Amino acid sequence: MKGLILSGGKGTRLYPLTYTRAKQLIPVANKPVLFRVIEAIRDAGISEIGIVIGDTGQQIREAVGDGEQFGVQVHYIEQSAPLGLAHAVKISRDFLGDDRFVMFLGDNVIQGGISPLIADFAHHHEWNCQIVLKEVAHPQQYGVACLNEQGRIVQLIEKPQEPPSNLALVGIYMFDPSIFEAAEAIKPSRRGELEITDAIQWLVKHNYVVFPHIHQGWWIDTGKASDMLEANSLVLEELTPAIKGTVDTVSEIDSRVTIEEGAEIIHSVIRGPAIIGRNTRIVNSYVGPFSSIYHDVVIENSEIERSIVLEHSTIRNIPARIQDSLIGRHAEVTLTVSLPKAIKMHLGDHSRLGLL
Ligand code: G1P
Repeated sequence: MKGLILSGGKGTRLYPLTYTRAKQLIPVANKPVLFRVIEAIRDAGISEIGIVIGDTGQQIREAVGDGEQFGVQVHYIEQSAPLGLAHAVKISRDFLGDDRFVMFLGDNVIQGGISPLIADFAHHHEWNCQIVLKEVAHPQQYGVACLNEQGRIVQLIEKPQEPPSNLALVGIYMFDPSIFEAAEAIKPSRRGELEITDAIQWLVKHNYVVFPHIHQGWWIDTGKASDMLEANSLVLEELTPAIKGTVDTVSEIDSRVTIEEGAEIIHSVIRGPAIIGRNTRIVNSYVGPFSSIYHDVVIENSEIERSIVLEHSTIRNIPARIQDSLIGRHAEVTLTVSLPKAIKMHLGDHSRLGLL
């Protein structure tokens, strides 16, 4: 089997972070979501992976390289415009050949990985496709599946205004080459894209075997800032803690805390689950549960909780606790000391600031 990861898209709902960074490279528990996807595919025993890239392709190439760091072989497939998930499948035909494959959206995070799903699909040769479904609160934001009493798929619809069920299509799909015929047969949707949901609906309609697996653990499509924070909390809960950096004798560190190489914790309290990245300095501060502080960050005389802070940022002398925040790279959050005493900001487009 082969792997196909879709890593295009503009990530508009994550602006301003995604003006300068591919959304799939934003870290959750200090590891880019895309790296988690590659590792999940590798751990399921697949070593040949194609990554479909768009405008942010260069960044993805630089971060992932030829895949050697993950123990896999990575091939890149360029998509000229975001014309849909089924379009991405079509343009990957040369790479995929006649192999069965798993397609994984590069911004999805799923509990428990995909090894059991891949094993099931490899075992059931009669399945042409396997989809993964999850009960969600707002199905209209996703592809939605309607099953009959025997658990067979009756219908699949992309982002219906009136969803027939609360079963969303998770961004993980397993296919055999019949999907190419389906992708050729369908027409673009109202948003002008070749929808993978429509292609799978075509398979169902033409009596191909599509097996629906209902996922019981958590699953997050990290499209929005609130989803990133949620995914971060869920992944942190599952991290195996390790202290590799240095902690002074007066600091208080919880049992569920990871401190990466070269990080320094000085006169501070860290409550887990939390992770402090390489060469980051936490001085006279409090880092609360569900926080991921990436590498080369400085936090001094401040308190932060349930937040993600990206590399090379500084948080200094903030009198109120920072919470539920996503702070980009090279950001500075500091208390103004020079006169006039005022709030001074250099915020990028689409930034959001919540003052007390
Ligand atoms: C895509 C699919 C949708 C699926 C979702 C899962 O939506 O079109 O069917 O439920 O991924 O993440 P998009 O993220 O393109 O809005």
